[in-house]
Amino acid sequence: MNLSTTESLKELVHLPVIVSPMFLVSNTEMVIHACKAGVIGSFPALNARTEKILAEWMKQIKDELERYKKENPNKKVAPWAVNFIAHRTNKRYHEDLQLIKKYQPPIVITSLGDPSPVAQVVHEYGGIVLTDVINITFAKKAIEKGADGLILISAGAGGHGGTYNPISFVHEVRTFWDGPIVLGGGLSQGEDILAAEVIGADFVYMGSRFIPAEESAASDAYKKMVVDCGIEDIIYSDVFSGIHANYLIPSIVNAGIDPKQLENMKKEDLSKVGNADARAWKDILGAGQGIGAIQNQQSIAEIVEELEKDYLQARKKITEGQQFAMKK
Ligand SMILES: Cc1cc2nc3c(=O)[nH]c(=O)nc-3n(C[C@H](O)[C@H](O)[C@H](O)COP(=O)(O)O)c2cc1C
Repeated sequence: MNLSTTESLKELVHLPVIVSPMFLVSNTEMVIHACKAGVIGSFPALNARTEKILAEWMKQIKDELERYKKENPNKKVAPWAVNFIAHRTNKRYHEDLQLIKKYQPPIVITSLGDPSPVAQVVHEYGGIVLTDVINITFAKKAIEKGADGLILISAGAGGHGGTYNPISFVHEVRTFWDGPIVLGGGLSQGEDILAAEVIGADFVYMGSRFIPAEESAASDAYKKMVVDCGIEDIIYSDVFSGIHANYLIPSIVNAGIDPKQLENMKKEDLSKVGNADARAWKDILGAGQGIGAIQNQQSIAEIVEELEKDYLQARKKITEGQQFAMKK
């Protein structure tokens, strides 16, 4: 598996999409079905509650994808990825890094902290490290610390979204980085992949689009809420986890909290406006601004098929438009 250049990485996938890691949502089924459908599947290492479970998950993904590849030699089976918190506050830092060394996920996505100790381990077995960043300072630091690619998290992303406009963010990073760029934040349709490519990104990071997938670990109520809601049902707040993230307003209301009062509040003030025990990600549910485009619950294979159809249609539309303009 050649992961060394943007082109060789793109060669390994059917569609340039990473099903992004989501706390309490991603599981082995999502990763396996995503990779079988030809897009990169990923999960946060901490979704496996113990190291023993993480070892089982990684073995299951690796074995199943190897078996599937042997049975389908002509099919593009995408590489899989694990998301690792590279900050020393990660209580399983050393243990999980050892498991990464053992099971060799082709791609390791680092969040927070210094990616260099992770890169050292991953490069030894021929894997690559993609680091997620929300600003230019972190992007430059990640490159300096040995990241092979950058994941730019822009405004509107589910979970801990950034604040930058995606177009400006990609353009500015491209002034100093010509390696792989993955763009995330509110992107959920096939044409969004083309839009990201047009502005200079190589891959799209999609999370929320896959929350209602049949294979996801989200509850039925959560899946339904994502399908039913749109951009106006999303709020960006740091009250619940201490870091700004995008959440579904109906889940805040369901937890007995008035969302209108969240502005300028701290976590300790939650009891004044409702339920002080409401837990981020469990009760207060995350999602990005792109959910308005999600119309129904589908399997991962169906979502990827739809993304591909819309991506190709958008490409055709633009090509035809260019021909029309040239004729005039
Ligand atoms: C419910 C939820 C949980 C998330 N958990 C994580 C996580 O554990 N680690 C991580 O790196 N990103 C996490 N994210 C962020 C996603 O990986 C990704 O940046 C985001 O989903 C992209 O934006 P989109 O949801 O608008 O597609 C989470 C996102 C959501 C919606």
